[in-house]
Amino acid sequence: MSVIILGIESSCDDTSAAVISDGCLKSNVIASQKVHEQYGGVVPELASRAHQLNIVPVVSEALRQADVKLSDLSAIAFTRGPGLLGSLLVGTSFAKGLAVGLDKPLIDVNHLHAHVLSHFIKKGPSDVVPEFPFMCLLISGGNSQIVIAKSPYEMEIVGKTIDDAAGEAFDKCAKVMGLPYPGGPHIDRLAAIGNPEAFKFSKPHIPGLDYSFSGLKTSFLYTLRDNLKSDPDFVEHNKADLAASLQKTIIDILLNKLGKALKEHPVRHIAIGGGVSANSGVREAVADFCKRRGITAWIPERAFTTDNAAMVAAAGYFKYTSKQFCDLSLPPYSRVTV
Ligand code: KG4
Repeated sequence: MSVIILGIESSCDDTSAAVISDGCLKSNVIASQKVHEQYGGVVPELASRAHQLNIVPVVSEALRQADVKLSDLSAIAFTRGPGLLGSLLVGTSFAKGLAVGLDKPLIDVNHLHAHVLSHFIKKGPSDVVPEFPFMCLLISGGNSQIVIAKSPYEMEIVGKTIDDAAGEAFDKCAKVMGLPYPGGPHIDRLAAIGNPEAFKFSKPHIPGLDYSFSGLKTSFLYTLRDNLKSDPDFVEHNKADLAASLQKTIIDILLNKLGKALKEHPVRHIAIGGGVSANSGVREAVADFCKRRGITAWIPERAFTTDNAAMVAAAGYFKYTSKQFCDLSLPPYSRVTV
């Protein structure tokens, strides 16, 4: 009999459901919430309300596209955290209700583990996947971490941001340039036609493998403030060069610590994950970094970089095969405590 996992993701501003059958992806439906654009960031209460509206149609569509009935499901996997609590409550409660109603096992998934395990979303049985242990540069709007994935269940965070995440650096700098939210993709697009050497922004000098992006944000802001005094159209005249220089600085910061991490934790495979791993410059730089060292680079499909339920179902599939189920009393969590 086939193992069919329904994955549900609702940790931030994307409502998503996916079906994985015998390890292969059958559907991945994502409803992105446009309501936040006008506020320049995610409004938690509006996100929860949108999840409530979206969850039933999104799950129904994922089942329809996969040609699967609710009664065919082997288990329901859901994102338990970290994320926005109100948003997580929608997915968690929906998954619990479904598990009770169908009398099926329930599987809780750590959202960050799911991003790391997004490399195990297979389209077909012959798709290749990374070998454990591998290193993952996990870069999103809320997190910047260097993770050693020792197994699907055991992940060690060896470096993390002490302030802003890489995605926040993209988004906050884009915001001061007057670009729409989220700014990361806009910076990416502009950077492609700009000069990455045009401006120099400060880089952090913190020991160990941790990241910091708040100094860069300030340095970017001061560059704009100082230049706007003499040229009120400074941003407009230098949009592409500002974007390219900002993107290059973020990439330099990310790769500097990745290099240090590799020396301390030698591995043969390096993966990237999270929304910022959709960035063209990051993808190219990591691929090149690995090539020069004879390491296999795992660059995810863009559809699996931002929040999606396919990665939740993939993580759930691993837990299903080792019978790691959770009980109905488990609450969602907003922050990772371990
Ligand atoms: O993983 P994700 O979907 O969710 C959160 O953690 O919120 O990541 C969203 C982040 C945002 O900061 C967004 O600007 C960034 O990923 N992002 C990008 C690109 N696409 C998404 N940053 C730079 N370049 C991109 N192409």
